[in-house]
Amino acid sequence: MGEIKLRGLEKTYGEGTSSIHVLKGITLDIPHNQFVTLMGPSGSGKSTLLHILAGIDRPDKGDVELFGHSLASMDETDLTIYRRNIIGIIFQFFNLLPYLSALENVSLPLYLAGKGKKESHKKAIEALESVGLMDRINHRPSELSGGEQQRVAIARSISNSPSLILADEPTGNLDSANAKIVLELLMKLQMEKKMTIFMVTHDILIGSMGTLRIKMKDGNLESWET
Ligand SMILES: Nc1ncnc2c1ncn2[C@@H]1O[C@H](COP(=O)(O)OP(=O)(O)OP(=O)(O)O)[C@@H](O)[C@H]1O
Ligand SMILES: [Mg+2]
Repeated sequence: MGEIKLRGLEKTYGEGTSSIHVLKGITLDIPHNQFVTLMGPSGSGKSTLLHILAGIDRPDKGDVELFGHSLASMDETDLTIYRRNIIGIIFQFFNLLPYLSALENVSLPLYLAGKGKKESHKKAIEALESVGLMDRINHRPSELSGGEQQRVAIARSISNSPSLILADEPTGNLDSANAKIVLELLMKLQMEKKMTIFMVTHDILIGSMGTLRIKMKDGNLESWET
C-alpha cells in the first residue's frame, strides 16, 4: 500500500502535429520513508513528473494521491497550501533569492506560510543548524559556495517539516566533493526525519543508492526496484 499513489498520469505539451506526449500513463505506489531515485534519458519526462507531484503542473489524465489527499481535487489555493506545508522542493540551480541572507531565504517561506516572525526565525535556525551552516547564516547566496547554497536550499526545503521532498538533480550543478556532501546530507535527513525524498539524478552511483529505484524511458516507467 503506497502512501504516494501515482495513477495513470498522462501529460501532453502543445497541440496538433507539434505536440509531445511526455507522460504516457505512469502508475506507481511509493510507500512512506523511502529514498526514491528517478533516472532516465534527457527528455524522458522526469522533471514533468516531479512538477506534477509538486502541484506546479497538472496532468491531463490520472491523479496523484498523497497521504490520502488527491491533487486533482485541489484548487490553486489548496495547492499553494500543499506546497508550503506538505512538501519541500530542491532544484538544480538552488533558486535562492539573491538579496536575502541564508537565514532570510529559509525563514521567508515559513513566514509566508503563516508562521509568526519568531517561529519562522526559530525554525529557520534549526534547519540551518541541521545542514551545518550556522556560521554562514548572514551570508547572501553570492557569498556562498555552490555546495553551501544547495545546503541553504535543503534547509529551506526541510524547514516546514514536510512529508515529501522533491529534488530535481540537486547535485547536478556541484563538483563531486560537494555532490557527496549534499547526497549524504539528504540521506541522513531522510532517515532522521522519516520522510520520503524523491530525487531525479543522472548519476548512476547516486541512482543506485535509492531504497526505491525508478527508471523512466519515453514517458513510461521502464523499471522500479526496491
Ligand atoms: N512546458 C513545456 N512545454 C512544452 N514542452 C515541454 C514543457 N516542459 C517539458 N517539455 C518537453 O517535454 C519533454 C520532457 O521534458 P522533461 O523536462 O520532463 O524531461 P527530463 O526527463 O526532465 O529531461 P532532463 O534530464 O533533460 O532534465 C521534453 O521533450 C521537453 O522538451
Ligand atoms: Mg529534467
